[in-house]
Amino acid sequence: MNLRLVVNGSERQVEAQPGESLLAVLRDRLQLTGSKYGCGEGQCGACTVLLGGRAVRSCRTEAADAAAKKITTIEGLEQPGGRLHPVQAAFLDAESFQCGYCTPGMIVAAVALLQREPDPSEEEIASGLAGNICRCGTYARIAAAVRQAAQAMRQAPGHAADQRQGRRPGHEEEMPR
Ligand code: FES
Ligand code: FES
Repeated sequence: MNLRLVVNGSERQVEAQPGESLLAVLRDRLQLTGSKYGCGEGQCGACTVLLGGRAVRSCRTEAADAAAKKITTIEGLEQPGGRLHPVQAAFLDAESFQCGYCTPGMIVAAVALLQREPDPSEEEIASGLAGNICRCGTYARIAAAVRQAAQAMRQAPGHAADQRQGRRPGHEEEMPR
């Protein structure tokens, strides 16, 4: 069947099998291999993408159910000018990975968490990422990166707090890290 998907801001037409997972379509048909296949059963979070702004397990989401919704993968977090998303930059700064297999899913889940809660507590970070498993056990560094990214995003031009103070977003300004 032919599907129209909106992936990382671009409309894509793909041929998919009935029941084919969104993860398979992203990786095998659109060559967006940042999202990882871990368990294939919705248990590990390695395949996490944003669907309509919500973090979902793409291994357990049928591609047909994602049609016409906005899909954002780890590749789609790239910022204007090719800069890293603040969460990606914070993961690098805090060295929040070893093998890196869980990292794309962790980052996407963290982005979703920070969209819901811009200043999460330790408990909210732990519960927000509880569905994402890291076999290498880098949870402390992952939490540190989320705290760092939260602070950077709150201080970034265009944040709601800036708008309340009457500041305007400035595209020419560098995103704080
Ligand atoms: S691969 Fe999707 S949750 Fe594990
Ligand atoms: S860094 Fe290896 S699974 Fe998380």
